[in-house]
Amino acid sequence: HFSILKCSLSAVLVLSAQLFVSIPGKPLPKLSPLPEEENRILVPESYHYIINQPDVCRDRIPFLVFMVPVSPQETSARETIRRTWGAPSQDTLTMFYMGLPMGGHLPSIQDQLEDENRKHADIIQMNFQDSYQNLTIKTLMIMNWLATYCPNAVFAMKVDADIFVNVFYLIKWLKGSPRQSFITGSVINDGRPRRDSNSKWYVSEEQYPEDTFPPYVSGAGYVFSADMAGRISWASRFIRMISLEDVYVGLCLRVLGVQPVYSISLPTLRNLFEIRNLEYNRCTFAKLIIVNGFKPSKLQHAWQDFSKGHTSC
Ligand SMILES: *[C@@H]1O[C@H](CO)[C@@H](O)[C@H](O)[C@H]1NC(C)=O
Repeated sequence: HFSILKCSLSAVLVLSAQLFVSIPGKPLPKLSPLPEEENRILVPESYHYIINQPDVCRDRIPFLVFMVPVSPQETSARETIRRTWGAPSQDTLTMFYMGLPMGGHLPSIQDQLEDENRKHADIIQMNFQDSYQNLTIKTLMIMNWLATYCPNAVFAMKVDADIFVNVFYLIKWLKGSPRQSFITGSVINDGRPRRDSNSKWYVSEEQYPEDTFPPYVSGAGYVFSADMAGRISWASRFIRMISLEDVYVGLCLRVLGVQPVYSISLPTLRNLFEIRNLEYNRCTFAKLIIVNGFKPSKLQHAWQDFSKGHTSC
């Protein structure tokens, strides 16, 4: 709880000192909103919805909204998630978020999507190009969607489609978590930009001149109080696009003076969001919140056992 105290303290400092305050460690670079042309690629006004679900949160207050970034083609991942941890429930709601299929206008994929959406009403699509380099756009549009259409939710989770989510433990864990200024996941405190232009994670000095990243949560799966969606969206007006979406969110958190929080289980001090590729084991998984590397068939299979058996561990 110390870090929570610290983060609300820095939030107060940021407000009172008008964004010129440093959080412990590094000084915060001076902030001014980006020139409009530079920021256009990241602002919601640059895009429009092709498929949207504007009413899903109108008559209910979801405790947790899963926002799953997917590409239009990942039909079987969506199907499996709907049948496993993402199945609609009293507490949870699951939405799939995507851009336009790569390779131009593909009417057959689009027709299938619209069909799928008529059945499930859980697809949100915007007209940006759905590519790996555009994941930051996707994440920010997810934040904007939450702030616009589901501001009454208690928590939201951005979670990749290849993740096993122990939704039972997660909900239990969140019932005792702060409901404001809160973001948790696998916290990376010592990230640095890769300057090797062949790297998948290359960031040029022009894009990001500093030589370290502020603390951020690994992008595979992180959870936040719903207020953070609008605040991250707002903070993005100060931060230049880099294609590492999780680092980008970390840069927004620094502007907001919010420290990402570790979730550690007692008494083992295990990082509940550790990103690992683990062989399925019912009782190991019962003590974790996310595990990565799950293809649809593997997820379906593990879930069949887990959903029935996890309480017996
Ligand atoms: C990202 O999306 C924008 C908007 O659709 C597009 O102009 C740009 O080419 C995309 N970039 C990549 C690398 O896909």
